[in-house]
Amino acid sequence: MDQVKIFDTTLRDGEQSPGCSMNLQEKIEVAHCLEKLKVDIIEAGFAIVSPGDFESVKTIAENVKECTVASLARCNPKDIDAAWEAVKGAADPRIHVFIATSPLHMEYKLRMTPEEVLEQAAKMVAYAKKYCSNIEFSAEDATRSDLEFLKKITQVAIDSGATTINLPDTVGYTTPVEMQRIISEVRGNVRGGDKVTFSVHCHNDLGMATANSLAGVRGGARQIEVAINGLGERAGNTSLEEVVMALRTRQDSFKADTRIDTTQIHRASSTVYNIIGQTAPLNKPIVGRNAFAHEAGIHQHGVMAKKETYEIMTPESVGIHVNNLVLGKHSGRHAVGKRLEELGYVLSKEELDRCFEEFKVVCDKKKNITDADLEAIANHQTKDLYTDIEDGYKLDWFQASTSNFTTATCTVCLKHGDEKFEHVALGDGPIDAAYKAIDEIINPSEHSFDIFNIHSISEGKDTLGDVTVKISAHGRTFTGRGLSTDILEASINAYLKGINRMLAYEKKLGGN
Ligand code: KIV
Ligand code: ZN
Repeated sequence: MDQVKIFDTTLRDGEQSPGCSMNLQEKIEVAHCLEKLKVDIIEAGFAIVSPGDFESVKTIAENVKECTVASLARCNPKDIDAAWEAVKGAADPRIHVFIATSPLHMEYKLRMTPEEVLEQAAKMVAYAKKYCSNIEFSAEDATRSDLEFLKKITQVAIDSGATTINLPDTVGYTTPVEMQRIISEVRGNVRGGDKVTFSVHCHNDLGMATANSLAGVRGGARQIEVAINGLGERAGNTSLEEVVMALRTRQDSFKADTRIDTTQIHRASSTVYNIIGQTAPLNKPIVGRNAFAHEAGIHQHGVMAKKETYEIMTPESVGIHVNNLVLGKHSGRHAVGKRLEELGYVLSKEELDRCFEEFKVVCDKKKNITDADLEAIANHQTKDLYTDIEDGYKLDWFQASTSNFTTATCTVCLKHGDEKFEHVALGDGPIDAAYKAIDEIINPSEHSFDIFNIHSISEGKDTLGDVTVKISAHGRTFTGRGLSTDILEASINAYLKGINRMLAYEKKLGGN
């Protein structure tokens, strides 16, 4: 069985797409998930882009022990210096340099001739090699590049010291047949092609990223670049979960596998969705809520008679444990703790105490507590996005009045230290009124309100509402989450947490 390396770019290509930006804390959490998944390489970011990106690549490099950590760099000394500074503390650092190779990109973006591009690639791979033995070279827009030119630049990169050659489908344009051919043609026609690792990096603009990546493996690629849940520029990157489960399920066909611990997939996927404040589309392969649900009678009948009739992989293999145990208000602390442990939560005694307290509060409002509710409670009690900034504003109480024939009003009372502040505001609906009242009390600095997302944690009218708010100011995004069976309360808490994060950042900027 051949081994295919999984190179995860959730924190670079994934994070650079709109609505997916993460703060340092969140990036570290994702990096830990990736380590548990046993990905081979984590692309932690693009160090030169901003001091924030640099700091997160450096922190991840210094904290991750079990994976190679890479930073992206354009083919210029400044980028490469920053990439090296950021990754040099890693157990196994990698510098990932790229330059565009298609006629379109060379002429209109780089304004360089093909000869200049070849020369720059040679010089910069050699420059990076002085710092680090592990060098990846990417020929951006490879699938729209001239094949002979691709061979030339690959040769130059190998001769200058690259150890991985990545041929990306940057704009999601290629097809499986083409991708297999590009990889096998280039790999088979350069000196030393069998001594380096060939890699594919596919975008999903035409919905073919997974198929193209797997075709690359048939062509000889032994590294696939992916992102959890397929995050990434435009329509996204290849989904980690899809290629990994395809290789695992169809080993007979690919004769290749990865070292991924697939039982961590569900956990990693929900962590990332949680952080970006989204949920998986119901029918998303592997991680969507319906991915293992059998609704049609004929299917249910088949699955009951023999699972394999309609199931090509088990939910357990991706870390979904079907739970027959119903938790409710008579369940004790031990049962709640045990179930959370089965769901993969390693909690301290204090965290479990807090989860159990909230569990009892939710039980008063909701008869049966599902795994999804429990996970939401655990996230609420342990994740940075839900927890309060120590010296921030906290909700004391609110009262709203709304109807479909008058303007909504909301009175909000906030606590700040020992002080209390109360304000009433009118609004276009109770959430708008509540947010206006909060703004009147806090008077936050100018910010854009980017995302308001509300989703139900489980089925039923008594479901918990999980609200995500993202606001931006000072070139940063601040996220807040709120969880409650009352969506107005969840919305107020989410906004307050975002605002409190922004205030804490402003305080740090001011040096107080
Ligand atoms: O899509 C792309 O070409 C990239 C490269 C920088 C690897 O993300
Ligand atoms: Zn990309």
